[in-house]
Amino acid sequence: MIEIKSEREIGLLKEASRIVALCLETLKDHIKPGVSTMELNDICERIILENGCVPSCKGYEGFPATICASVNEVVVHGIPSKKQILKNGDVISVDLVCSYKGYHGDSAYTYKVGNVSPDVEKLLEVTEGALYEGISKIKDGVHLGDIESAIGDFIKPHGYGIIDSFTGHGIGRGMHEEPNIFNFGTKGEGPILREGMVLAIEPMVALGTGKVRILKDGWSAVTKDGKKSAHFEHTVVVRKDGYEILTKL
Ligand code: MF3
Ligand code: CO
Repeated sequence: MIEIKSEREIGLLKEASRIVALCLETLKDHIKPGVSTMELNDICERIILENGCVPSCKGYEGFPATICASVNEVVVHGIPSKKQILKNGDVISVDLVCSYKGYHGDSAYTYKVGNVSPDVEKLLEVTEGALYEGISKIKDGVHLGDIESAIGDFIKPHGYGIIDSFTGHGIGRGMHEEPNIFNFGTKGEGPILREGMVLAIEPMVALGTGKVRILKDGWSAVTKDGKKSAHFEHTVVVRKDGYEILTKL
């Protein structure tokens, strides 16, 4: 069952989501060659705590940090480290969840470190475009497949690999609630969306095949072919005639 949230609950989700957005916006000034992924983690953790929120990933099934910092071929769930120093030409996806009074906001953004190659530039543009294309279809009464197919159809002409082993999800008091939201699908299929449902939409796309494996750290999901990847995510409320993106300032 996909929960319908009350306006009071949506208000709490909005506060958590605003802080997530504040973190991701703040990181724009800090992501450059020479910075470690742990420094980025610590900046976000401080902002979250200062604003009365709680980092949701830290301790979740044993994940050790506040942010997921996924560099280059790491698609999602990279673990921040003092030893991992960003260099010119890298891309880093930061995926961040925090809660306010028990309600979670979830967003991800892929940043360029210095100058990246044109093929990587295009990958980021298409992945972010796919997120907004999917979101643009959201309103009361549409099928989940309408959103999923819009995302997939936006990406496919570019020949990129769409990651199929991770999905978006409903969100609320749980960081992951029903439904799972794939980044490809069929129009007219799946559950009907209703006003008050809250969804985390998150296309994950790679330059190669998009097949992934998990590293020995038990978390980092990397592309099998070592190609770079991108990940953009927003937490969004279904409204009567459209949608409301919560993870923005
Ligand atoms: N936004 C991520 C997701 O939806 C959050 C993962 S946090 C972790 O999967 F703790 F699982 F790493
Ligand atoms: Co998510």
